[in-house]
Amino acid sequence: MTSLAGKRIVLGVSGGIAAYKAVEICRRLMEAGAHVIPVLTNGATRFVGRTTFDALASERVQMSLFDEDDPIPHTTLGQTADCVLVAPATARVIGAYAAGISSDLLTATLIATRAPVVVCPAMHTEMWEHPAVAHNIATLVERGVHIVGPESGRLAGGDEGAGRLSSPADILSAVSRVLDVGEKRSDMAGLSVVVTAGGTREPIDPVRYIGNHSSGKQGYAFAEEAAGRGASVTIVTTVDRPSSLGASVAPGVTGMPGITEVRVDTAEEMATATAEAAKEADVVIMAAAVADFRPVDPAGVKLKKRDGVPVIELEPTPDILASLGASKPEGQILIGFAAETCDVADNAAAKLNGKGADYIVANDVTAENAGFAHDTNEVLVLASDGRAHSVGLRSKRQVAQAVLDLVVADRDGRANVR
Ligand code: PMT
Repeated sequence: MTSLAGKRIVLGVSGGIAAYKAVEICRRLMEAGAHVIPVLTNGATRFVGRTTFDALASERVQMSLFDEDDPIPHTTLGQTADCVLVAPATARVIGAYAAGISSDLLTATLIATRAPVVVCPAMHTEMWEHPAVAHNIATLVERGVHIVGPESGRLAGGDEGAGRLSSPADILSAVSRVLDVGEKRSDMAGLSVVVTAGGTREPIDPVRYIGNHSSGKQGYAFAEEAAGRGASVTIVTTVDRPSSLGASVAPGVTGMPGITEVRVDTAEEMATATAEAAKEADVVIMAAAVADFRPVDPAGVKLKKRDGVPVIELEPTPDILASLGASKPEGQILIGFAAETCDVADNAAAKLNGKGADYIVANDVTAENAGFAHDTNEVLVLASDGRAHSVGLRSKRQVAQAVLDLVVADRDGRANVR
């Protein structure tokens, strides 16, 4: 078990049915050696008694902003914490935190701390999928807050769907990662991974091009997640590493160790560089938004308005994913993406079948806080053996983590049947 010895953890518990699971989280944090200070909202005490936490934690439960012994408990808590963990986090607490509203001790502590914060949402699917909640989560991710879960599964009242609190084990390992005390995952050690990132630029003339909105965030998130798990990564990219990734990823890999960057501009250049890098790769991840068409004959000098509106003849670019699929070495896992605006699952399934990929990561780029340029994403992963796996809204790093978990399990499965 990871040691959290000496770490002061404020365990915030807010008022949802999953509050009872916070008891187990508290117990596990104590077992790992942490100094746990429970902070409960009034709502939490409707679901679980404060005596339970009093008995289990290092300190007695705190609930009030106005304490006789400590006139400013929220700043004391916030300043002395190594980590503030909120599990479960209700829509109200998430909203107040995102808006900077401190209506109780827990939200005041969240706003008063500079320690890393881990928020574990739990609520009904309708609430989790409400645009306001999605917007608040995206705001928190952008500010560097670590979001864990929620999972999909059985909810209170017998409903099924997204919104269930992540397991205590997953929450503890997230806290360990955030505090950088966890064992580093090394389940991709020795693997060679190629990732493409960004949008290609197809020149019209020396100053204009056909491009798209890709920021490279999703591609770089894959590269950093794979490198963090021990892979040796080549990223074929049209853009620099987006600076916002620094704030939104779990610590562990902050720079670019283990990653070689190859800069390209056009689909043609990306095709050449990717084909070369993919020859020896174990995993290829095509997250780039590659132009499908390019001008047949880009002008050598800047087109002038005075010469009238130009007619630009286009031709198809090389389909990099399809040609990698057609020449895939045995054992290589090829992951394509599908950026879609309608009929997402059907269009993605057509790409899966047509391009020889093992997985297609389907991105509804019209969804709120997902797709191009956002720090968050939500995707549907289709596998060539018919499995489908939906990954709800979370940081792009966490999307990469979820997809790579599937890839690692897939490789382990293949190794076991040999
Ligand atoms: O970069 P971000 O701002 O973080 O945004 C992430 C993203 C939305 C770009 C990413 O998640 C995504 O969906 N990437 C794929 C975009 C795309 O080009 O999709 P597509 O459906 O047009 O292409 C399908 C697949 O074929 C993709 O893997 C693409 O890389 C590949 N392709 C496309 C055209 C082409 N000529 N060659 C290709 O290899």
